[in-house]
Amino acid sequence: MRSSSILILAALCTCTFAFAFAGCSGGSSGDTIRVGVAGPMTGDQARNGEELWLGASLAAEEWNAKGGLLGKQIELIRKDDQALETEAKKVANELIDAEVIAVIGHYNSGVTYPAMSEYAKRKIPMLTPAATNPKITDGALEAGYKTVFRVCGRDDVQGRTAAEFVANELKLTRVAIFHDKTAYGEGLAKDFKLALEQLHVKVTLFEGFDNKDRNFRPFLPKLREGDPQLWFFGGIHNQGGPLARQAKESGITIPFMSGDGVFHPEFLKKAGDKAEGAYFTFPDTESMPAAKAFTKRYEERFKKQKGPYSVYSYVTANILFESIAKAGTVDGLKVSEAIRGMEHQTVIGPISFDEKGDVTRSIYTTWVVRNGKFILTSEDK
Ligand code: ALA
Repeated sequence: MRSSSILILAALCTCTFAFAFAGCSGGSSGDTIRVGVAGPMTGDQARNGEELWLGASLAAEEWNAKGGLLGKQIELIRKDDQALETEAKKVANELIDAEVIAVIGHYNSGVTYPAMSEYAKRKIPMLTPAATNPKITDGALEAGYKTVFRVCGRDDVQGRTAAEFVANELKLTRVAIFHDKTAYGEGLAKDFKLALEQLHVKVTLFEGFDNKDRNFRPFLPKLREGDPQLWFFGGIHNQGGPLARQAKESGITIPFMSGDGVFHPEFLKKAGDKAEGAYFTFPDTESMPAAKAFTKRYEERFKKQKGPYSVYSYVTANILFESIAKAGTVDGLKVSEAIRGMEHQTVIGPISFDEKGDVTRSIYTTWVVRNGKFILTSEDK
């Protein structure tokens, strides 16, 4: 009972409140094993943070129901980074002060990158379920960090998948690109552009706007320059939805394409019927029976539709907990060795990590919106 009340209470409040649990001092020496969950919990990316939180919470509840870890209950500490790079180090240090032994997060690459070194300097494992910019794990390797992991894929792989689809499946030769000028959005846009050019597809436009913009009408006329056959956006659904809607309303009829950040039920809601025919890249986390069973458990437990990274957060938490159990300690370096030292059997298939902390198999596939739903392009008849 105690563990579930901790989790339920923690789910309802911010991390600072977590300190209010009398007798629940954490870290390695306390009564519980404290793990941070960090992401955007407020603002128009709040669903992304909540999905990380709920995915990890489901895993923690399942482990706690089986007796917890190393004889203790798992206590998750939730932190809001507001999707702001400027909050990254502050939030990381608040989690460090809360004596977390590992962190699941962050969501945005631009926040994850600066937060990463704060954790790594203290040998606290950080496992991001969602941040896809290559420089996170490339940077970790360069800095000699052994405690940084990324459970999702990388944007160089994602960008190449998108480009191959455009060139080989759609057989297009001219593409326009917008991005949100963030580490993620611009990074993915650049990776996509590079891969397109290698495939001899012409990029007719490469243009960024501020990630706070919501009125894209001033930018849309540029899409018509150079007669592109498809346009792409590197960014998040909070912009992708209104952007796709405004583009169709202003008469842009060529297909829209985007990546994991826009691949979200919020995009479908915000773009409405203007979402039809939009293409996306995201791994197939739907087809496996174990993934379907996860979705059912999650949606029954939380009475909410899952998002694309809910399952990644669940998988990330399970990888961490399994590795702590295997290591028999919460020592960050030993836990990291355990994470790297085994193949993890997860609801989205087996996962193992390379020297950088990247998954050894990063697989993206392509999706299209039909009748208000994301379906695999391979099933688009
Ligand atoms: N993949 C997105 C990012 O890295 C969520 O920011």
